[in-house]
Amino acid sequence: MNNKTLYKISYGLYVVSSKRGEKINGQIANTVFQITSQPPTIAVSINKENLTHEFIERSKVFTISILSEETPMKFIGHFGFKSGKELNKFKDVNYKVGVTGAPIVLENAIGYLEAELTNTLDAGMHTVFIGKVLDAEIINDKEPMTYAYYHKVKGGKAPKTAPTYIPE
Ligand SMILES: Cc1cc2nc3c(=O)[nH]c(=O)nc-3n(C[C@H](O)[C@H](O)[C@H](O)COP(=O)(O)O)c2cc1C
Repeated sequence: MNNKTLYKISYGLYVVSSKRGEKINGQIANTVFQITSQPPTIAVSINKENLTHEFIERSKVFTISILSEETPMKFIGHFGFKSGKELNKFKDVNYKVGVTGAPIVLENAIGYLEAELTNTLDAGMHTVFIGKVLDAEIINDKEPMTYAYYHKVKGGKAPKTAPTYIPE
């Protein structure tokens, strides 16, 4: 079996955010996709070790910020290689609180979705969170960052916790 075939699957790049009481957190994810349109429903696969996982499980709400192609690597590193268990990732980041009460990262975002959890799927190391979209807005008309662009143009990598990580 050629595992690298999985690299041929296309994705975008997002910040998935949630909350727990007064606490807020977010992380990078490439595994966001729309499941159905009636009602508008999205899914994301989140590692069980991540703080964001715990927050979504508890609050049953999450938001998706769709990142622009211009997003700096430093920003992706901040949300994608560090855990909210160690620092407050939102300290110097531009965000707002939406209808779900969860934070929405506005920095480097071209649009966002807000969702309430309707279903979960246990996938071993990860949980697929499925949510009904409660609100959505376009911020600007810049190009969305694709996973391929992140790897090829920006020279980016995915950590071991990412669902699409393949050991060499
Ligand atoms: C390009 C990229 C894609 C990623 N995709 C996912 C993903 O789809 N799901 C996931 O659980 N983690 C993914 N990650 C890893 C998380 O962002 C990372 O483990 C983060 O530190 C978790 O933060 P938290 O503990 O504050 O929730 C990705 C990271 C990068 C850099």
